[in-house]
Amino acid sequence: MIQAVYQWLDQRLRLRPIEEMLLNEPIPGGTSWVYVFGSATLFLFLLQLLTGMFLAIYYAPTPDHAYDSVQFIMSSVTFGAFVRGLHHWGASAMVVAIGLHMLQVYLYGAYKPPREVMWMVGVALFLLTLAFAFSGYLLPWDQKAYWATQIGINMVGTVPGIGDALVRIIRGGDHLGALTLTRFFALHILFLPLMTLGLIALHLFILRRVGPAGLFEERRTVGKSGAVRAERRRRIASEPFYPRQVFMDAVVMGVVFLIVVGLAIGLPFPLADKANPSDTSFKPIPEWYFLFYYQGLKYVHGPLEPLATWILPAVFYAVLMFLPFIDRNPARHPVRRPTAILIGIFFLVGVFGLMAVSLKEIYSVPTTEPSVVRGQELYAKLQCNGCHRIHGSGGAVGPDLSYEGKGRDRNWLIRHFKDPQGVSPGSIMPAFSLTVSELDDLTNYMLSLR
Ligand code: HEC
Repeated sequence: MIQAVYQWLDQRLRLRPIEEMLLNEPIPGGTSWVYVFGSATLFLFLLQLLTGMFLAIYYAPTPDHAYDSVQFIMSSVTFGAFVRGLHHWGASAMVVAIGLHMLQVYLYGAYKPPREVMWMVGVALFLLTLAFAFSGYLLPWDQKAYWATQIGINMVGTVPGIGDALVRIIRGGDHLGALTLTRFFALHILFLPLMTLGLIALHLFILRRVGPAGLFEERRTVGKSGAVRAERRRRIASEPFYPRQVFMDAVVMGVVFLIVVGLAIGLPFPLADKANPSDTSFKPIPEWYFLFYYQGLKYVHGPLEPLATWILPAVFYAVLMFLPFIDRNPARHPVRRPTAILIGIFFLVGVFGLMAVSLKEIYSVPTTEPSVVRGQELYAKLQCNGCHRIHGSGGAVGPDLSYEGKGRDRNWLIRHFKDPQGVSPGSIMPAFSLTVSELDDLTNYMLSLR
């Protein structure tokens, strides 16, 4: 049946040559599990595109409604929390996949001639990925989003000369507000995806023109055994993309998808409080892939600060971009590129070292949001413990609240606080008269109990 349809289409559209062009690409040195990271990255990008489109159905990019619309996605939309989870963890997974892809290309020296342009397009794609991460982070408009973005924008402002202008362009005005949100939204869902699709097409086009790099070339044939080895290599000189590489890529995409699904179900990504521009005490913690940088910033102060906020990153990206022209060593085998490999190792040790220190610092101080602390004080002041027990202390008139944050959501708690009898008919819990912000604090405290 499928065969027949294919034949029918083939007679009209002449698909056969395209099929051959797509599947028969020779891979020098044969197929390998090492080559799967590019397609894993592509797969994750497509997943982001799909989940992002569904999130956009409900998301409202205004400071008044953004937070509530995400809340609504999380609590009321069928599969809403799941799709948001996929989008959130998909972004993290994409950073991992692209990182591994770049490492592999670096290790195999695959950025060297004639693939310089392909590498540069790849670096541009990496920058676009970071721009996706940065612009997407603001969209939920919670405290984390607001203050992390504020810090990012302030850093841009330290660039001499053009800093102020850049900040105005990014922020769309004098302060982080409605204009910033719509601009980040447009960037995130229109500009960046279209630019990325274009560059992916270019990346793949170049791949097809120059061919995959495959294994590093055989060592110069010195001596007899070298010649024999080279001969053996030449015999499995290349293998077509289909079927083995296609199969490997498909397996890895399946595994990557299952991992992201697992994370979306197992590690929900909660919202913090709604963004409060006047609460300057809020200390945001960036996404894990920016942690090493965030940690690095802690070590530089005063006149050295621009070094970390823009000089080092600018130098890093410039070197990365022009790497094929800076690294003039023609060899591709890692053994014959000791400097490049050492630099790579130093870089990785630095990044992961800083990340480890940062994680340790974050987890050694329990992070309690000020709102939760205020809620806890209110709980004591209003003597809720007369009727309720939390982790063993308090009365037993009302239900144990030790894990209240697991069972109830924000809306339910607020409705219940406003009118206990309305929500639980016959309840003897008094309706406390609370201000809006007290209600918010108490609810946040309840939600933190899990
Ligand atoms: C006079 C006793 C009494 C006091 C005081 C009291 N509660 Fe309650 N509370 C109850 C009872 C009884 C229930 C169960 C019926 C209901 O859901 O309203 C309850 C239910 C709740 C629930 C819902 C539990 C659930 O998930 O079903 C929460 C949350 C709660 N109380 C929080 C508080 C807080 C916070 C305070 C202090 C501001 C407080 N209560 C003060 C008696 C009390």
